[in-house]
Amino acid sequence: MNSELTFLNNIKEYYSDSTDLMKRINVHKNFSKIRVMWDAWVLDKLPNEENINKVLDLGCGEGRFIKYLLQKSIGNYYSGYDLSKSNIQTASEQTIENKEKVKYEVADVEVIDYESNSYDLIMCNHMLWHIKDKEKFLKRLSNSMTLQGVFIATTNSSDYMHQLYDLHFNFMKSLKFPEYTTGNPERCTGFNLEEGESVLSKYFSNVTGYTLDNELLFESPEPFLDYYLIYLKSQIYLYKDIPVNMWEKLFKSVKEYVINEIRENKIFKVQTKSGMFIGNKNINSAK
Ligand SMILES: C[S@@+](CC[C@H](N)C(=O)[O-])C[C@H]1O[C@@H](n2cnc3c(N)ncnc32)[C@H](O)[C@@H]1O
Repeated sequence: MNSELTFLNNIKEYYSDSTDLMKRINVHKNFSKIRVMWDAWVLDKLPNEENINKVLDLGCGEGRFIKYLLQKSIGNYYSGYDLSKSNIQTASEQTIENKEKVKYEVADVEVIDYESNSYDLIMCNHMLWHIKDKEKFLKRLSNSMTLQGVFIATTNSSDYMHQLYDLHFNFMKSLKFPEYTTGNPERCTGFNLEEGESVLSKYFSNVTGYTLDNELLFESPEPFLDYYLIYLKSQIYLYKDIPVNMWEKLFKSVKEYVINEIRENKIFKVQTKSGMFIGNKNINSAK
C-alpha cells in the first residue's frame, strides 16, 4: 500500500467508530473547568449571520456545528463531508428532519471539486492538521467562498493535553518501545493555535484568533482512562507490529500512575487550551 493510502486508512480507522468521537466530546462537556458549549463558543463569533445562505463543513465529524446552525436558524443549505462512514451516518441521523436542507457525504475533502464563489460559511474544525497539501486545499476553499464569505477553523494549542501525552510517551520510553513509536508526540503539528494565524493569513484576510484556556478536572480515574484508551487505539492502529502485551503494560502503567495521583492529590488535571480562527475571502489569493 502506498504511503498516501496508509495515511488515509489510518484516519479512517481512527474515526471509524463515531461513538469514540462522541465519548471524547462528552468528556470535555462533563469534566471541563470552564463549562462552555464549544459549538456555541465558536459559532457565536460569526458576524452578519443573516447573510449566510450556503454552509460547508469539512471533516464535519458527527455534525455538531451544522446541528447548532440549524437550531439557531443560521443559513439555509448545508453540506458536510467526512472520511468516516460512521461519523456521516451519525450526523445524517441527527438532522433527518431537515434532510432537504442538509447533505452529508463520505468523501476525502482534498479531492472534492468545490463550486467557485458559492459558500457563505466554510468550517474546518479540528481537522486541518490532517490535510496533506494545505496550500492547495486552502486556496481552493478561498476560491469557493462568496465575496462576503467567512472561514472558520478550530484547533488546539501545541501543548494541548500535554499531561496525557507526557505520560504516554514517557512510559513508552521506560517500557522500551521502539524509538520510531516514541518520537512523534502528535501535538497538533501542522496546524495549531500558535501557528494558525500565519498559515491562514496567506489565504484569507482579516484573520482573527480566539483562545479558550481550559482544563479537564478528573476526580476519578475512569473518565480519563476511557479518553486515554481512545487515543491509545489510534497508536495501536498506527503501529500494528507492536505486540499486544506491550500496549497492555503501557495502559497498566498509565492507569496506576493516574490512580495514584488522584489518591494523593484528589484530582488529576489536564490542560486543554484550544481556540479558533475566523477570516474572510482574500480576493488576491483565491486563484
Ligand atoms: C477531530 S475530528 C473533528 C470533527 C468535527 N469537525 C468537530 O470539530 O467536532 C476530525 C475529523 O476530520 C475528518 N477528516 C480528516 N481528514 C479528512 C479528509 N481528508 N477528508 C474528510 N474528512 C477528514 C475525520 O474523519 C474526523 O471526523
